[in-house]
Amino acid sequence: MTFGQVFRPGQKAIIKKMDCIESDNVLEIGIGTGSSLQYYPKETKVVGIDISPDMLEVAKKRIAKDKIHNKHILLMNGERLSFPDNTFDKVVGMYVVSVTQNPQVLVEEMKRVCKNDGDIYIVNHFSTEQDNLFVKMFEKGLMPISKILGWKPYFPFDEFNAYANLDVLEMSKVNLFNYWNIIHASNNK
Ligand SMILES: C[S@@+](CC[C@H](N)C(=O)[O-])C[C@H]1O[C@@H](n2cnc3c(N)ncnc32)[C@H](O)[C@@H]1O
Repeated sequence: MTFGQVFRPGQKAIIKKMDCIESDNVLEIGIGTGSSLQYYPKETKVVGIDISPDMLEVAKKRIAKDKIHNKHILLMNGERLSFPDNTFDKVVGMYVVSVTQNPQVLVEEMKRVCKNDGDIYIVNHFSTEQDNLFVKMFEKGLMPISKILGWKPYFPFDEFNAYANLDVLEMSKVNLFNYWNIIHASNNK
């Protein structure tokens, strides 16, 4: 419940930025319990994947209970997507880049399955130049226990984009204390 309240504004904001149209074919990586699905337009086809069967079980029940249309979920590892190259118009990852085992492989997969000149969207916490020094020190202090926490507390955007090589069109802040970033990139292959 706590995480839901914190994450929700970011889900809403990123889907608004995605500006989905009826014909869009969207992939959401790390869909979790499917709490984002309600924010997509009814007609837009969304495939949500997640590595956790337990999370997907909740998502499945949510889709049935809320009668959510054109939204499908699949058990899949975002680092090994079983979709062909250039399949989706828009690929989005919400709060997954910091928790996946290998973010470089995940983002390479996002780019591979996204159409050339399609759009990639990410909402995640990245450390940036503008961040408060004490916050950065705190995050760095937590890094030795990142495996126990299950996410990377200190994750500089420059470090991520050195390998992700995203053509960033827009980067904005969202959620509590503006701690998270929304990234919109063009998939120029
Ligand atoms: C912090 S939760 C966020 C869930 C959801 N995106 C949301 O906004 O509520 C991260 C999710 O990513 C999933 N995940 C982590 N690594 C993954 C991977 N390699 N492939 C697919 N899903 C993954 C987890 O199972 C979890 O459901």
